[in-house]
Amino acid sequence: MASIVNPPRDPNTLSNYNNFVTTHTIANLGIHFEKRCVSGNITLKLKSITDAATKEIVLDTSFLNIKDVVVNGRASKWNLSSRFEPYGSALKISLEEGIDDGKSVDVNITSETTKDCTALGWMTPAQARSEYPYMYTQCQAIYARSVFPCQDTPDVKSTFEFNIESPLPVLASGLSTGVQDVHSGSEVAAGTKLYSFEQKLPIPSYLFALASGNIEKAPIGPRSTVATGPKQLQAAKWELEESTEKFIETIEKIVYPYQWGHYNVFILPPSFPYGGMENPIYTYATPTLISGDRENIDVIAHELSHSYSGNLVSNCSWEHFWLNEGWATYLERRIQAAVHGKPRRDFSAIIGWKALQDSVAQFGETHEFTQLVVDLKGKDPDDAFSSIPYEKGYTFLSYLESQVGEDKWNKFIPHYFNTFARRSLDSYDFKANLLAFFESDSAASDALNKVDWDAWFYKPGLPPKPKFETSLVDVCYALASKWKNIKAEKFEPKAQDVKGWCANQAVVFLDSVQAFAHKLDKRETQAMGSVYGFAKSRNAEVVARYFQVALKAKDDSVYKPTAELLGNVGRIKFVRPLYKWLSEADRKLAVKTFEKNIDFYHPICRGLIEKDLFGKGNRI
Ligand code: BES
Ligand code: ZN
Repeated sequence: MASIVNPPRDPNTLSNYNNFVTTHTIANLGIHFEKRCVSGNITLKLKSITDAATKEIVLDTSFLNIKDVVVNGRASKWNLSSRFEPYGSALKISLEEGIDDGKSVDVNITSETTKDCTALGWMTPAQARSEYPYMYTQCQAIYARSVFPCQDTPDVKSTFEFNIESPLPVLASGLSTGVQDVHSGSEVAAGTKLYSFEQKLPIPSYLFALASGNIEKAPIGPRSTVATGPKQLQAAKWELEESTEKFIETIEKIVYPYQWGHYNVFILPPSFPYGGMENPIYTYATPTLISGDRENIDVIAHELSHSYSGNLVSNCSWEHFWLNEGWATYLERRIQAAVHGKPRRDFSAIIGWKALQDSVAQFGETHEFTQLVVDLKGKDPDDAFSSIPYEKGYTFLSYLESQVGEDKWNKFIPHYFNTFARRSLDSYDFKANLLAFFESDSAASDALNKVDWDAWFYKPGLPPKPKFETSLVDVCYALASKWKNIKAEKFEPKAQDVKGWCANQAVVFLDSVQAFAHKLDKRETQAMGSVYGFAKSRNAEVVARYFQVALKAKDDSVYKPTAELLGNVGRIKFVRPLYKWLSEADRKLAVKTFEKNIDFYHPICRGLIEKDLFGKGNRI
């Protein structure tokens, strides 16, 4: 009898993963810098999870050139459906006969990426600030399908084998198993080597990662290495070597031993569109992290936390993204508290709460994307991306912690990460797991019965505001309030005002000043920039916020430095608001800056600025 096939939980894949699931993937690929493409073949071991009635395998692809499909060693019939936005083109592979439940089939596909590929960042030597070109992938959320055909859903997890040919050193989201010379021929660039890796823990497709360039390595701990261009190597090592192992040991105490063998950090060229990306074995990180003051390494605590939340225990679809990011934010702040003392947790949460307020204000407080659990049917997960899953998720987990009490909650954390390790889950699995864990504890159960789950999951807007411990931020608010009344109080800024402040205190101060920045005049914002040293800060979090304040005040002394920063940093978090405010202050300069740097930005970032500056796909 045919088993009942549930509809897939993930609406953002075209694959029929309710019939087949990928259990192992072999990626034999070549990186071609001149043609700017990645090509080769992929073998997917697909296990049937229903009876033999289904005679078709459907995979995700996006802007791929498919050349050949072989099933169990025999050429197969296949066709590529027309594009269905935003998900790409379904690759439909016919099977001669159905596959019995539990049996596997090997599908080998030869393909190459095209110029429209959304996952690959390519850089000329000039853009990479190097003598060599550079390439890297960014697959989260639904871009792995533009590198190779796959079941591009976090609800399916596969082990991986990578065999990658490139003329420059290669990194991947697996442990290295060797490097071999490749004899050059007409098709092969000089110096090409074959770099092999394996990933024995099953990972979802969005964690597939490759990078190649003039990459060198240095140790930053007993199980950690930093990789980056030779010029930045020493600075990167200094920034990270003090904390990386400390963070790992701390999270091991909060959850359980680190499972992936090595935890390494790869510092990318400045066009990298994110602060960090939790690719297994090698966290990818923005070079803005290397600020010379070790003040931005909370990003590392965050990405390391994904080794548990996201990479080992994964959200089953982007509708439940808060499970990845809310938990990672929660664990990141627990690490900060353990390493630097309790007030640090709330210090970071206060900055997070401001980001949450901004996101809710930006979407509108009744907007569906301000819910913790969102409906993404037919939608692009990138459109829903904001601070909400991070900060509403964090607020929810902190609230649950306070409901059951800290000690009991601490016992639940390893239980949760044990139950769902190597699996994917949704918000209802999380709820059921939590309730079951405390079933025999009547005090905790009573407290959990008071939780309004539906409101937390589905109510748009801000959740109730938690009480924060404000010891580290009170001075920042007090100074901001002086600036608010600068004219009435004849306040004269002095370097003394911010003496001994850490970068995050400047961030909190600038975040509050932003609310009334349009009322400041140019003379005042200039004084803020020079007297407090914000205008020349090496810390991108500080300088980008200061520029926003000054742009809002129409202070033309920052227009040129803003345009320069926009040519040197491609991190979406900084670039988007800076373009927005530069465009309001000096539209011509904003457009000119974008046109000048268009090739510098990663395709995802480029698309977003284009949308913001010119409206959807409408460049005028
Ligand atoms: N996984 C995210 C980055 C991401 C999310 C990439 C969605 C693509 C789609 C990563 O863990 C992250 O959250 N990065 C943050 C830094 C962090 C400290 C909050 C970032 O890039 O700003
Ligand atoms: Zn994250």
